Amino acid sequence: MIYARISGTGSFLPGDPVSNEDLVKRGIDTSDEWVTSRTGIRARHLASADVGSSDLALIAAERAIEAASCEPEDIDLIIVATSTPDFIFPSTAALLQSKLGIRNGSAAFDVQAVCSGFVYALTIAEKFIRSGSNKRALVVGAEVFSRILDWSDRGTCVLFGDGAGAVVLEASEMPGIRTTALHADGSHHPILCVPGGVAAGQVIGDPFLRMDGQAVFKFAVKVLGDVANEVLEAAGATVESLDWLIPHQANIRIIQSTARRLGVPMEKVITTVERHGNTSAASIPLALDLAVRDGRIRPGHRVIIEGVGGGFTWGAALIDF
Ligand code: UT7
Repeated sequence: MIYARISGTGSFLPGDPVSNEDLVKRGIDTSDEWVTSRTGIRARHLASADVGSSDLALIAAERAIEAASCEPEDIDLIIVATSTPDFIFPSTAALLQSKLGIRNGSAAFDVQAVCSGFVYALTIAEKFIRSGSNKRALVVGAEVFSRILDWSDRGTCVLFGDGAGAVVLEASEMPGIRTTALHADGSHHPILCVPGGVAAGQVIGDPFLRMDGQAVFKFAVKVLGDVANEVLEAAGATVESLDWLIPHQANIRIIQSTARRLGVPMEKVITTVERHGNTSAASIPLALDLAVRDGRIRPGHRVIIEGVGGGFTWGAALIDF
């Protein structure tokens, strides 16, 4: 039996942290008290204008490849989850392959599932590896959400940030990713969207992120609870067998409500939202990398990662390290 195991993690946040107070100084009509109490976010990182998702992805990927003790040429599949690609095309994954100097002709493509993107990308990579067609995949979540924020909309601009996280996923005889579940319900698309595009050299529609925060909140708590139970049940595992829960890092109140619903104590929940806000597809691998590097996640540990985002999309994976 071939399994897929995570053999290395990496992440990257651009520039210095920008605090809530810094946003107030930049003229945003908000306060540290409002943002912290409603979301748990204390800071975010914002990429400079000449930096794209592929640049953030490159540094996170190099760190993951080093941690996996392999070479870029050993990677035979690249999947990048992003909703803020450098270009309409080529894909950010193709750009990343070029920046990594990989010339082995392996497949590279992007996945667009917004904040569930990393769970989608990891699930796809796991299928390729378990089928025997690929041996070592690089799976990345990379975003420059600051590019799609309306800085005059205080209800959204304080919530998001830029960053990237990556893992190397390898074929192994030992179980790694145990079970996965992916879902979507496109009928909810209006509650979180960037309803614009480009045609004839013009922006058509609205190129900024729009959100009904309360509707998203309710939806997120429900599906994050359900999908975590789904992957546990599929694995025949109990919630008590979990060492760590890594939910999408959007809002500490969503994370706390989800943990409460699942019966997972907060001591077992990895949270990084306070330091980088909502980085969409990058948020889960950012939190995962931090917890691997600071020694909380250790070999033998059992982890659930789970995401929810625009579309609506949601998903989870039960992973043994
Ligand atoms: O990947 C999923 C991404 N999305 C999310 O995670 C968002 C989920 N939703 C939420 O976390 C919450 O709905 C928010 C944090 C976005 C908003 O919290 P809320 O308790 O739902 O606030 P609200 O939108 O109902 O607004 C309450 C008040 C309003 O003022 P009034 O009308 O009561 O006077 C807003 O104008 O808060 C005001 N407000 C702000 N005040 C200071 C909205 N944004 C801000 C702000 N600073 N940044």
